[in-house]
Amino acid sequence: MAVLPIRLYPDPVLRVRCPEVVDFNQELSSLIDDMVDTMHAAPGIGLAAPQVGVEKRLAVVDLSVGDDPEQLLVLVNPQICSTAGSWIEEEGCLSIPELNEKVTRPLDIVVKAQSASGEPFEFPASEWLARAICHEVDHLDGVLFIDHLRGLRRERAKRSLKRLLRSA
Ligand code: NI
Repeated sequence: MAVLPIRLYPDPVLRVRCPEVVDFNQELSSLIDDMVDTMHAAPGIGLAAPQVGVEKRLAVVDLSVGDDPEQLLVLVNPQICSTAGSWIEEEGCLSIPELNEKVTRPLDIVVKAQSASGEPFEFPASEWLARAICHEVDHLDGVLFIDHLRGLRRERAKRSLKRLLRSA
């Protein structure tokens, strides 16, 4: 197990539409272990494979940030099958440090995914869990939370990103 370096905006790997995982092997299990370690060390509540430079449809989510093992979710080839409602709340991303903006997300979703061993499963998620999952699934399509911003929020985020890039 290892903590991997997190790729930062504007790394092009963050814009890749990742291909599905087809091999549920030891390499995948090791990658999942490393991603969980990396997410907890950051600390963060979610991490997608492209954020550690791996182009695979794989994400981990843990709203407890390691406090409660039952809250750890490993999502291989996740899909949002349905959404309902919407709410707006502040969101951030480990790949875009120091930027938080309010993003509209569904309130309730149903998610289909596979486990580390390839077992399919389906479950409902609401509020923060739904938000975290939507954010991570976006990553697998090369979409970042800043892409959801409109109007003044978008302009403000663009200015902050320019400042961050200059100071990097
Ligand atoms: Ni993110």
